[in-house]
Amino acid sequence: MSKLFEPLEIGRLKIPNRFVRSATYYALSDENGYISDGSIELMKTLAEGDIGLIITGYAFVLKHGQVFPDMNGIDRDDHIPAYQKMTRAVHDRNSIIVMQIAHGGSLSTTAAKGKGDYVAVSLTDTVPDYGREPRVLVEEDIQGIIEAFGQAARRVEASGFDGVQIHGAHGYLISEFLSPAANHRKDKWGGSLENRMRFLIEVIRSIKKNVSADFPVMIKLGCRDYLSERDGLTIEDGQQVARAIEKEGISFLEISHGLIDKPFRRKAVKITSPDAEAYMLDAAKAIRSHVSIPICLVGGMRSLPVIESIIDKGIADTISICRPFIREPDFVRRLKNGEKKQVDCISCWGCINPDKEGKNRVYCRQLEKITAKKETA
Ligand SMILES: Cc1cc2nc3c(=O)[nH]c(=O)nc-3n(C[C@H](O)[C@H](O)[C@H](O)COP(=O)(O)O)c2cc1C
Ligand code: SF4
Repeated sequence: MSKLFEPLEIGRLKIPNRFVRSATYYALSDENGYISDGSIELMKTLAEGDIGLIITGYAFVLKHGQVFPDMNGIDRDDHIPAYQKMTRAVHDRNSIIVMQIAHGGSLSTTAAKGKGDYVAVSLTDTVPDYGREPRVLVEEDIQGIIEAFGQAARRVEASGFDGVQIHGAHGYLISEFLSPAANHRKDKWGGSLENRMRFLIEVIRSIKKNVSADFPVMIKLGCRDYLSERDGLTIEDGQQVARAIEKEGISFLEISHGLIDKPFRRKAVKITSPDAEAYMLDAAKAIRSHVSIPICLVGGMRSLPVIESIIDKGIADTISICRPFIREPDFVRRLKNGEKKQVDCISCWGCINPDKEGKNRVYCRQLEKITAKKETA
């Protein structure tokens, strides 16, 4: 009997099954990160889909870490009332919700394209060309960001979320500090792995200082970079980081990637056979034996046999899914009812395309095409 619908304890939380909705930005907030009723409706829909644990789209902890002009924010106390509405709506449906908090580092497009501050760990060739050079963080900035993560987590708890997840992956600020490809600093924040992970450790300590002792603090960690032509964060580095953050009190570790380039990016597109699924299985296998906290694997899970084998073989305790829930937010409920064995999502990445006015809109373009065809038939 598969363990997929067995509960799992994550610190003080008991999640009812092994499915996690991985953090997903939905372009539904205003330019200052205030969420809309649309965000609350989205969370209600997910809560009705029997997903074990829902993680919100990333929220910026400081304006210079804002990646998109319509992403969530958690940089001020006056965000709390709207998030309280969101958590009440999810709890009314007996579901569990965690907020992801982030700083985009040199990938903060909104900050880069605006007139305000735009910052980076170092000036390396990993910094994208947005038409202006970022300012390299000085000691005072670094301390300010660490404090901002702590204050953001305090707001997350005050908003009624069941936990907070640190975004420590995908080339954003924490990933940049960890990676030798992006971090060329000569001070105590760069050089050795101990120095490169110092920022993450200080962020965790700041969060812990600002929330209740048993409030679940989780992370989505870029456990390794996948770079083809230069040295990045290795999986051995990732194993050491995972051990260190468990000691700091992280209660749940979602395994993802750090910096990537084209060959790896291709793995995440058009996942049409079981062999192409779970494209970061190598990282999960490598991290598993180095920590005792529950782990979660993200990236390309599409069919029941693959998902079952990851959980039943103990490679991960949970799996997390993003794009398939954009297309079918009720996938888990239907699976539970024995209706489905495979998601409909074809992993085309179309869901994050901008519209004609250049504004990001997140929805399934394939479903749109199918509906249009039906209507013209
Ligand atoms: C529209 C969209 C928005 C995303 N937003 C976030 C986010 O806010 N935070 C995050 O950690 N990852 C984000 N991701 C990445 C996903 O959480 C996930 O790691 C990745 O899509 C691989 O999982 P999948 O194959 O199930 O889609 C986003 C991906 C998509 C397609
Ligand atoms: S557009 Fe639809 S099919 Fe394509 S990745 Fe997004 S959800 Fe999946």
